[in-house]
Amino acid sequence: MNIAVFASGNGSNFQAIADAVKAGRIKANLALLVCDNPQAYVLERAKKTGTEVFLAERKNFKDKSGLEAAIIKEVEKKKIGLIVLAGYMRLLSPAFVSRYKNKILNIHPALLPAFKGTEGIKDAFEYGAKIAGPTVHFVDEQTDHGPIVMQAAVMVDDDDTEETLAGKIHEQEHRIYPEAVRLFVEGKLKIAGRKVIIVRRQNGRQH
Ligand code: GRF
Repeated sequence: MNIAVFASGNGSNFQAIADAVKAGRIKANLALLVCDNPQAYVLERAKKTGTEVFLAERKNFKDKSGLEAAIIKEVEKKKIGLIVLAGYMRLLSPAFVSRYKNKILNIHPALLPAFKGTEGIKDAFEYGAKIAGPTVHFVDEQTDHGPIVMQAAVMVDDDDTEETLAGKIHEQEHRIYPEAVRLFVEGKLKIAGRKVIIVRRQNGRQH
């Protein structure tokens, strides 16, 4: 399977997935990085890992649908079977999402459905949550909403700052996102309504 990562910033999750592909833990090709920000550090990472980049800058297109049409062209050309959103700061249109229904994953740095939006870590910290952590979910037409694949919990300690909490959450992201991608690639994620079932087979039996 060919996979594409969409990212706008640092790209530490891109890196975690690229490393898992390289190590053979994810049996897929990291065929494409779609990035909307020419300053993003993820572009350096893509260069180092030899990943092809499609720079999709909004200003180069008349409107959002023009931008998405160009992205779709790339995605089709590369025969992408899974789109992995990893800090992609642009909302995908309902048309884009429905075209790749159940083929787009996202990671959010809070325990959904709490603290949706772009400041998940800050919001959880300021709210005084005692447990925080990232969520990997399928993308549907609503933001931070689709069926949950995996979550990880971290304790918020009294001496945590927003930065130290972010460090703990990112560490868990880098563990669970490659794992969720691996399960998808191996055909082990089954969506049943809002629930995602992880299919584990042994001796041909499901258990
Ligand atoms: C992560 O915290 C992720 O949960 C959120 O955006 C951030 C991306 O970080 N969606 P990075 O660019 O992968 O380092």
